[in-house]
Amino acid sequence: QTGHTTLDYGFVNTSATKSAITFIDGDKGILRYRGYPIEQLAKHSTYLEVAWLLIYGELPTADELAEFDNRIRRHTLLHEDLKRFFSALPHTAHPMSVLSAATAALSTYYERESDPNNPEHVELNTIRMLAKLPVIAAYAHKKSVGQAFLYPDNSLSFVDNFLKLNFGVLSEIYDVDPVMTRALERLLILHEDHEQNASTSTVRLVGSTGANQFSSISAGINALYGPLHGGANEAVLEMLGRIRDSGEGVRRFVERVKNKEDGVKLMGFGHRVYKNYDPRAKLVKESADEVLEALGVSDPLLDLAKELETIALEDDYFKERRLYPNVDFYTGVIYKAMGFPTRMFTVLFAIGRLPGWLAHWREMQQDPQTKIGRPQQLYTGAVERNYPGQG
Ligand code: SDX
Repeated sequence: QTGHTTLDYGFVNTSATKSAITFIDGDKGILRYRGYPIEQLAKHSTYLEVAWLLIYGELPTADELAEFDNRIRRHTLLHEDLKRFFSALPHTAHPMSVLSAATAALSTYYERESDPNNPEHVELNTIRMLAKLPVIAAYAHKKSVGQAFLYPDNSLSFVDNFLKLNFGVLSEIYDVDPVMTRALERLLILHEDHEQNASTSTVRLVGSTGANQFSSISAGINALYGPLHGGANEAVLEMLGRIRDSGEGVRRFVERVKNKEDGVKLMGFGHRVYKNYDPRAKLVKESADEVLEALGVSDPLLDLAKELETIALEDDYFKERRLYPNVDFYTGVIYKAMGFPTRMFTVLFAIGRLPGWLAHWREMQQDPQTKIGRPQQLYTGAVERNYPGQG
């Protein structure tokens, strides 16, 4: 035991920093970005307006937002050499691995402009990442389906450009679909920040060593990939598909979860902080019916998810453990209805979370109290002993 340390697995009882960006009340199911309730922002704001709010602390004026939007549009192109990066990877590569690797590779083009202590570099690379990561994400999608990469279309809004990069094909004119635009805009807003979650804490820890934004965000993408974190939205769809295909029925599956058979979990349920309904899950569930109907899609997996939620919320096992649907429980059904492959779901989470990661990296970087992250430990290993012949 070193110093006066107390063991706190997963730091759930430890504040690693002060932050003014996002407020969560896990018992009341409250989420606010810079004080604004998520319910209002999801319904009335846009991804870039919320990105500015998270990064700079206030809602932008119309001119600030227009300038921000224009700067991002002017940085959407990737260096042509970087496009060849994708051809080095197998077409079976998981898009989250592609996003993480390409984000780290992106930094190699800007090494002379990546000084974390140079405010101009920080501003420029914030813009570059907001502009280029969606393009990389769309290229990961196109690679996984064997289609040609498109170039960004700067005549379109941020979300429409992202949708066109994902769903446009060279042989067709791409028609913007307002239903898709609004659905994705709302889902991205719901993911933009969530205070000190595992991937954001990773971004802050890596950044605390003096690593630049690209390296820190690439590390955050890797943390998000895990099925207990952002990877859960992909795992929910796989879980629902297995329940449907096995014919075992929801009640039997819930029993297996309660018996912890083969470590099976109810993916999309439970949360480190929310011990009540995740306010984001409520908003996603509300819009799921509306979006699927507007897209003319009916998906039995949505009904299965609702049945699963109803049964779980009535069951003491889940009530005693305060397990409720989290943001990942319903999002996948909407992404699937929009046409995204399941393995793109966590990439969409990452694009959503990017402004929050950037905001936290900057807040950490500007905080004079920031020290390189270095938790203590309770040592339980071998006591001192000698190498043979040295004793
Ligand atoms: C995200 O931190 C964030 O903010 C993350 C996030 C964000 O926006 O960044 O909100 C996004 O990551 C949401 C979470 C997505 N993950 C999943 O849906 C995966 C399934 N969920 C679990 O793995 C779990 O709920 C966690 C890891 C998310 C949270 O774990 P908890 O609730 O802090 O507590 P725990 O793991 O200690 O479990 C407590 C009890 C245990 O039972 P007992 O051992 O006491 O009998 O609850 C059980 C667990 O087995 N439990 C579950 C369960 N989650 C917890 N049992 C079945 N299914 C589950 N999903």
